[in-house]
Amino acid sequence: MPHEQEQIDKEQQDILRRNVHGRRLGRPLSPARKKALDALMPALEVSSSALEAEAALDPTSLFTDSSAETWLEIGFGSGEHLRHVMALHPDINYIGAEPYINGMSAFLKDLYELEIPTDRIRVHMDDALLLVDSIKDNSLDGLYILNPDPWHKYRHHKRRIVRPETLDKYARVLKSRGKLIMTSDVSYLSEWMCMQAAQHPSFKWQADSKADWQDTPKDWESTRYENKGRDAGRYQNYLMFEKI
Ligand SMILES: C[S@@+](CC[C@H](N)C(=O)[O-])C[C@H]1O[C@@H](n2cnc3c(N)ncnc32)[C@H](O)[C@@H]1O
Repeated sequence: MPHEQEQIDKEQQDILRRNVHGRRLGRPLSPARKKALDALMPALEVSSSALEAEAALDPTSLFTDSSAETWLEIGFGSGEHLRHVMALHPDINYIGAEPYINGMSAFLKDLYELEIPTDRIRVHMDDALLLVDSIKDNSLDGLYILNPDPWHKYRHHKRRIVRPETLDKYARVLKSRGKLIMTSDVSYLSEWMCMQAAQHPSFKWQADSKADWQDTPKDWESTRYENKGRDAGRYQNYLMFEKI
């Protein structure tokens, strides 16, 4: 691995240790959230042993139905979108990655209290890239990255979850014709993500017209972040890519 990349990887691990792992708990959990975590986490969390080897994890092996499509959502927040697609596509397996326990517990509380079946959902409460690195080549059908943190400053761009190095990782784990779906209402971040993915040799942008990235796709569930942005006068861009 070139020295520069090693340095970036090390910095990223340090940042995550400080900023992701260090702030896993924002505010104290309510008893209901704690109960849901205790009840569901042991069965739903991707085990740490599954994450140990690089590119070895077959994601379908995490589910009872190993013949179904398997999609990953990175940074699901409180899980509104994940819950929506689970209801919309009950025959698809989903893995949700969210490092913050407040978001994870909100999602699990909904699953628990609404008695949503959990045979098609698995979760990872840590940096999504640790999970992505453990997944074997050409094994995911789709990947959602919705409203990722923008990391505004230029010197922080290397922390973005969508950048050339992470796109290499996403391209590795996606199947041929697998989908990469990204959104943002931060215009320069949308532009950045779109440019990085469009310039990547493994991805093809699926848009033919403005409407394809400006209009809300059919059956779309807006997340809390998306609604807040819209209320503040910002517009979401929907960036649909396919692995070629
Ligand atoms: C701006 S929020 C968007 C949440 C959600 N996707 C939505 O649209 O409502 C960004 C999310 O990415 C998560 N995140 C940040 N770094 C991450 C990482 N390395 N791996 C997985 N999730 C991450 C944050 O915890 C946060 O929930």
